[in-house]
Amino acid sequence: MFVRTASERDLVAVRALLVETWHATYDAIYGAERVTAITDDWHSIASLKARLTRPNSEFLVADDGKRLGGMAFAAATTDPKIVLLNQLYVHPACQRQGIGQSLLDEVEASFPEMDTLRLEVEEANAAAIGFYEANGFRPAGRTADCGGGSGLPALIMEKRLG
Ligand SMILES: CC(C)(COP(=O)(O)OP(=O)(O)OC[C@H]1O[C@@H](n2cnc3c(N)ncnc32)[C@H](O)[C@@H]1OP(=O)(O)O)[C@@H](O)C(=O)NCCC(=O)NCCS
Repeated sequence: MFVRTASERDLVAVRALLVETWHATYDAIYGAERVTAITDDWHSIASLKARLTRPNSEFLVADDGKRLGGMAFAAATTDPKIVLLNQLYVHPACQRQGIGQSLLDEVEASFPEMDTLRLEVEEANAAAIGFYEANGFRPAGRTADCGGGSGLPALIMEKRLG
């Protein structure tokens, strides 16, 4: 798998990857119906397309030439030193093969002014928290509204760079 910038041609495959990975990750926590409702909103083609042109952002996919194994989306805040890692998802069949790590490395290389990479993670998602801790992220607080508008509580984690 190689990491590259996403384009409009990828969006159908990105949406399919997100829907599958979200059900595999969150059905046991939120229930399948809630997961379908959230992914229909956050991961609609229109929502994904809007991210392709967002300023000061990076939309990445991991590709092996035949299919996508993962994706990441990160965007700088109004302070260019603080970047939010909004999404990092590796397909269940491709996890633990270094793809998440490659996507994260590329995000870190993409924002030269960044000194803090911040994310929100579901507290019951022990695998993701394990991955982030192994990659230098530390707990930095809590939010009651993961992603803005979900009403879901989440742990905030941050990695200091530079
Ligand atoms: C979390 C996720 C992004 C990690 O990506 P990945 O490609 O599976 O992870 P990598 O193979 O790059 O792992 C790199 C290192 O992170 C750590 N790590 C990865 N998964 C881990 C886990 N489940 N528990 C503890 N540590 C873990 C390990 O140190 C690993 O190195 P190793 O395999 O040599 O031991 C991916 O598993 C995923 O998409 N999960 C489901 C969706 C999700 O939870 N996304 C995050 C939402 S906030």
